[in-house]
Amino acid sequence: PKPHARPGNAAAAWSALRDEAMACTRCPLYRDATQTVFGEGPLDAPLMLIGEQPGDQEDLAGRPFVGPAGQLLDRALDEAEVDRARLYVTNAVKHFKHERRGKRRIHQTPETPEIQACRWWLDQELDLLQPRIIVALGATAARALLGKAVTISRTRGAPIALSGGAEGWVTVHPSFLLRVPDEARKAEERKRFVKELREIGARV
Ligand code: URA
Repeated sequence: PKPHARPGNAAAAWSALRDEAMACTRCPLYRDATQTVFGEGPLDAPLMLIGEQPGDQEDLAGRPFVGPAGQLLDRALDEAEVDRARLYVTNAVKHFKHERRGKRRIHQTPETPEIQACRWWLDQELDLLQPRIIVALGATAARALLGKAVTISRTRGAPIALSGGAEGWVTVHPSFLLRVPDEARKAEERKRFVKELREIGARV
């Protein structure tokens, strides 16, 4: 099917798109999630960041990147002096995929069918915003953006020409940085992430 025709006005079109996504049943993930977590940010943002999927806190709040990974991302963006007014943040998959263990909800990595089903929304966000630069945070986002599996370590650090003329970048997911066990390495990885964000931010 083709996406719905929406109002010509970008703000109205985005609201209509978000409203539709709130009722999404394109894959089974909606069943166990609290709500769809749609992207947010200015619609004229030249820079779009794509994460993996909402986590526990995002699922409850209905907003992307508000939990621990989001807080790390916020600090990294501040340090990199990336202007938040020029940034739209979204996820490759818009429902929280998890497994219940007692009271805890444990994150599960989305798989290809879920990523593909959710491209329906990501593609329309991309169409509507037409950001000049798109950054995939981690492997799931990279897979959604590039349509194939890539190795982060071999793909990061250089721009990728995307069809449609935008510039793509791939880097680590902030939650990877939270999980690096060794403190010295963690600091190093974090520094590298900030440096990349700074370089990317300077291109918009
Ligand atoms: N991790 C993501 O990839 N996205 C979020 O919104 C939160 C955590």
